[in-house]
Amino acid sequence: MTADRAAALTREITALKQERNAVILAHNYQVPEIQDVADYVGDSLGLARQAATTNAEVIAFCGVHFMAETAKILNPGKIVVLPDKDAGCSLEESCPADQLAALQKTNPNFYTIAYINCSAAVKALSDCICTSGNADRIVRAAPKDRDLLFVPDENLGQWVMETTGRPMKLWRGDCYVHVEFRKEGLQQVRAAHPHTPIIAHPECLKEVRDLADVVCSTEKMIDFCRKSASKQFVVVTESGIIHRLRKECPGKEFLPAPVFDVMRMPTDNCRCSECKYMKMNTLEKVRDCLKNLSPRIELPADILDRARRPIERMLEISAQPIENAG
Ligand code: 13P
Ligand code: SF4
Repeated sequence: MTADRAAALTREITALKQERNAVILAHNYQVPEIQDVADYVGDSLGLARQAATTNAEVIAFCGVHFMAETAKILNPGKIVVLPDKDAGCSLEESCPADQLAALQKTNPNFYTIAYINCSAAVKALSDCICTSGNADRIVRAAPKDRDLLFVPDENLGQWVMETTGRPMKLWRGDCYVHVEFRKEGLQQVRAAHPHTPIIAHPECLKEVRDLADVVCSTEKMIDFCRKSASKQFVVVTESGIIHRLRKECPGKEFLPAPVFDVMRMPTDNCRCSECKYMKMNTLEKVRDCLKNLSPRIELPADILDRARRPIERMLEISAQPIENAG
C-alpha cells in the first residue's frame, strides 16, 4: 500500500472512530498500518484487559475471531466488530466444544484451563482462561486437589508443566505458524550470531523452546528487548511483532528466525512465519467495519454468561500481587 493511500485511510478511520465513539484494539501481529492507527496494540492479555475497561461504545477488534469474542463476552452491551469475520485460529479449530465436553465427562475431577485461543463455547465449558502471558500464574493458582486439563495448545501446556512442575492432561492442538520453527533454524542462527539472544513464543515446539534464551508472550518479548543491553535479537514468533519492536526499541536489530520446511530444509519461498488469519485484516476493512458496524460479533446469551466467569477469574488472578497468586 502506498504511503498516500495509508494516510488517506487513516484519516477516514480516525474520523469514523470519533463519530462512532469507538476504540481500536490491535494485536501485535497485525499489519503495521493497522498497528499505527490503533488506540492500543498488545498481546492477548493486554487486549483482554483493555476490553474489560474501555468506555467506548464500539470496539473494533483488529485481531482474530476468538479475541473479538472475548471482548464481546466482557462487554455484552457493546458493539464489537472484527474487520474480517473469517480471521480464525488453528488452535481454536482444533478444539470443538462437543469433543471437550465429552472428555470432561470422563473425569468429574477435571479443572479445565483453556488458553484464550479457543471459541466462546469452549470458554463456557472451562474453569479458568489463561494467555501465554499468565499461563504459569493461572496453573499455579489452580486448586491443588483437582486434575488439570489444559486445552487446546499442547506446546504451551507442555511448557507450563515444565515451569510449574504441575502435571496436566493436554489437548493435542497447535498453532500452525509456531510449529513451523524447527531446531535446525535456531542452530543455524545461533552459529551465525552466537551472542544474540533468541526469544521464542511458548507455542513453539519443545526442541525450539529448549534452544531459546527467553520463552514468553509477545508483550513480554517487547519488554525484554526494550530493557536488554543487547543490540540484536532473534525473534521466534509471527513476524508482525517486528514492526512494534523496531518502533519501541530504536537502534536495535531484530532478526526473524529462519523457517524450515517439513523435510527440515531451509526455505524462503513461503510466508510461514505470517499468520494468514491475522493478516486477513486490512486498513480498508478496518474503515469498512467502522462505517458499517459490521461484521459484528454476536453470541447466544447462555454462552456469553457462562464464558464470562472464567475470563474474569483469569483477570482477577493476573491482577493479584505475585505472592497471593498461588
Ligand atoms: P500472545 O498471548 O503473545 O498475544 O499470543 C497470541 C497468539 O495468538 C500467539 O500466536
Ligand atoms: Fe492462532 Fe497461531 Fe494465528 Fe496466533 S499465530 S492467531 S495461535 S494461528
